[in-house]
Amino acid sequence: MAGVTAGRFAGRTALVVGGGTDGPAAPGEALPMGNGRAIAMHLAAEGAAVAVTDVSAERAAETVAALGGIGLALEADAADPDACRAAVDRAVAGLGPLDVVVCNVGIGGGGPIGRQTVEQYDLAMDVNVRSHWVTAERALPGMVERGRGAFVFVGSVAGAWSNGFALSYETSKAAQLALARHIAVRFGSRGIRANTVVLGLIASAMSRREQGTDGDTLGWRAALPALARQGTPEEAAAAVAFLASDDAAYVTGTELVVDGGLTCRSPDSLFRGRDAVAAPQGG
Ligand SMILES: NC(=O)c1ccc[n+]([C@@H]2O[C@H](COP(=O)([O-])OP(=O)(O)OC[C@H]3O[C@@H](n4cnc5c(N)ncnc54)[C@H](O)[C@@H]3O)[C@@H](O)[C@H]2O)c1
Repeated sequence: MAGVTAGRFAGRTALVVGGGTDGPAAPGEALPMGNGRAIAMHLAAEGAAVAVTDVSAERAAETVAALGGIGLALEADAADPDACRAAVDRAVAGLGPLDVVVCNVGIGGGGPIGRQTVEQYDLAMDVNVRSHWVTAERALPGMVERGRGAFVFVGSVAGAWSNGFALSYETSKAAQLALARHIAVRFGSRGIRANTVVLGLIASAMSRREQGTDGDTLGWRAALPALARQGTPEEAAAAVAFLASDDAAYVTGTELVVDGGLTCRSPDSLFRGRDAVAAPQGG
């Protein structure tokens, strides 16, 4: 597994919110992979006991079965604040005090302004932002008591850049950044860190389900990043594991952009096309 550093989470406990995967597998993939699942598997590979929540008990259980370590599958709808709180309690009761909470769950929106309904907007805000606030609020007292804890939020470039298509997704991902910073500032002096991975175009099961797998879609998703390909859930997970680990002991309240150079490209680089900006051989 990419970027696995043996033992960084030995003896530690993690909660991954939204750690199932909902969508088709990639060609040749035995188990459909999404960011939450890859994060849970990565943390387990580095020694963590991992509690996985999902709105679907079956999807959470699938992830836990793939962990190859100590795990706990929990059914919890992130749209329900009581379920979020209960999931934290059940994770602590089942695996012990939490060292790491990964706020991964995030749903797409209903569309652009004018087509977005109030119900779709509220649901995205509930799942993508409120659930993370409520989960963190429940996990924090135990972390404060022990003087350590790390939150990693799974964000998106949509929190900083609009494609004009996804009002509630963009709005909620921007709000999520503020939530991470709030926790970092409020609890930093008590040994708690909070950071966000800002993901670009990741070839996850959810992206295949929502965006499709036709040649055009796969083409533009691969064409836009400077690295000329989509990222993988495992690459997203490696960045999450870094921020959750002691290797990032002095990193808090910030964002790690994991987008293969999607957002470093200026508009003229995109407009001119890859061939025009690609370095000639030797240069
Ligand atoms: N895939 C990408 O291109 C991409 C890009 C940027 C950011 N992200 C972010 O990555 C995160 C994970 O996305 P993914 O693509 O890996 O998805 P995924 O399909 O792999 O996993 C999402 C999981 O969340 C669960 N879920 C959905 N609604 C839920 C709810 N109300 N309560 C609990 N669980 C629920 C689903 O059942 C599914 O198992 C999201 O926050 C998303 O915004 C993804």
